[in-house]
Amino acid sequence: MAGTVILGAQWGDEGKGKITDLMADRMDLVARFAGGNNAGHTVVCGDDEFKLHLMPCGILYPHITTVIGNGVVINPRVLLEEMDGLQSRGISCANLKISCNAHLVMPYHLAFDQIGEQSLGSAKLGTTHRGIGPAYADKADRMGMRVQDLLDEKIFKAKLEVSLERKNAVLTKAFGQDPFSVEEILTEYMAYAERLAPHIEDTSLLIHDALRDGRKVLFEGAQGTLLDLDHGTYPFVTSSSPTIGGVFTGTGVGPRDIEKIIGVAKAYVTRVGYGPFPTEQENEIGETMGARGVEFGTTTGRKRRCGWLDMVLLRYAVRVNSLTGIALTKLDVLSAFDRIKVCVGYSFQGKIFHELPPHQTIFHKCEPQYLELAGWNDDISEVTERDDLPEAARRYVEFVEQGAGVPVEMISVGPKRTQTIIKREEYRRPLEEGPYLYREDFEPPAGGVRD
Ligand code: GDP
Ligand code: IMO
Ligand code: MG
Repeated sequence: MAGTVILGAQWGDEGKGKITDLMADRMDLVARFAGGNNAGHTVVCGDDEFKLHLMPCGILYPHITTVIGNGVVINPRVLLEEMDGLQSRGISCANLKISCNAHLVMPYHLAFDQIGEQSLGSAKLGTTHRGIGPAYADKADRMGMRVQDLLDEKIFKAKLEVSLERKNAVLTKAFGQDPFSVEEILTEYMAYAERLAPHIEDTSLLIHDALRDGRKVLFEGAQGTLLDLDHGTYPFVTSSSPTIGGVFTGTGVGPRDIEKIIGVAKAYVTRVGYGPFPTEQENEIGETMGARGVEFGTTTGRKRRCGWLDMVLLRYAVRVNSLTGIALTKLDVLSAFDRIKVCVGYSFQGKIFHELPPHQTIFHKCEPQYLELAGWNDDISEVTERDDLPEAARRYVEFVEQGAGVPVEMISVGPKRTQTIIKREEYRRPLEEGPYLYREDFEPPAGGVRD
């Protein structure tokens, strides 16, 4: 059992990229299990900032095998652009493995994402317009194009023809749009195939073998628990399973392969896109959180909605993911406030809910019940020991721990690797400043290999 999972405990953008990068140091393999390039994971190494959309954050370490699992939907154009971008910055993508069973995002998926949002009008979801929903819909409809189809032009063409017959009929007849051409897509995707072919593998077997050999595997989540297709705030969700179940279906390992499940949660809450958000602060408080936390979407640049921490939702995330611990991020952002509110229940028509209400209407209309805690105001962005936090900040963390029922194993106080409070002895490498990137003179840690 050497598997560790990092997943989002809120509505995405919790800082999974930073935490994955931090933990990847002592891993041998890092695998993404869900989502597509709707994700945007930021990693700051020294003066370098990386924004990764499809690529697992482990790519920044040369000793790591990086896997894009079968649960991910891949836009090959975006993936290749990301690989080129990384390679131009000196980062090798030679260790990237792509699941042969992952599904492809096709040009018509982007068109249908746009159409879907337009036709919903004011009820739209606020998707990232990356074709994610339509790609997963085709997968469930058994109409999807898979990565392995890239390896056989005849099969790819035959499947594409069947798919486009249906898609083009809807596009032209129902929406008056131009049809897609089989030949154009075929030419485009066969060019991608040539470049991606060396990376395509049975990644379930690869991960299995790594675990069997006692190597350490990290499963990197995208999105967050409340965006989960089943467990999130449906229909204002994404179309995959960012919760723990997605690890198993999205990579092909089993529950006994997992030892630790870390939920990443901000010390407050943000959300991009539409949908209910009981603790949202559409006022100066939310503006301050947004400004201090630089809350703009990594993928779309949209302003993130901000609000107080919601312990009902955090407890829910602990429960549905069976979390073993929490990584609490952006605690530094709360230094702006004299008093800090935390939601501990909802009230609706005289009834108090301590759990996520079973009916969406209640969740939409409920009034959050807050506890108010003391703030600290001090700059905590350089604190590296929990004991050195101001007393009020320590109390806040303890409050979260107590409420969630699992330990806060990491506290993040800034975007950089060094701005983290962790049990140092757990880490192979001191958290000194500076990129841990591909270099000619790089010596991999014990057990690692150079490519
Ligand atoms: P992800 O999608 O969960 O990986 O999160 P994003 O990268 O989309 O958004 C998190 C943002 O917060 C990024 O810009 C990070 O650099 C930044 N960040 C992460 N942790 C901290 C922290 O503790 N404090 C501050 N101020 N910023 C942080
Ligand atoms: P990371 O991995 C935040 C949101 C979108 C929209 C909804 C559906 O960076 O945390 P989609 O394009 O998936 O069909 O959009 O889901 N969403 C995210 N919000 N972080 C993300 O990823 C997200 N991925 C999707 O804003 O509300
Ligand atoms: Mg993000």
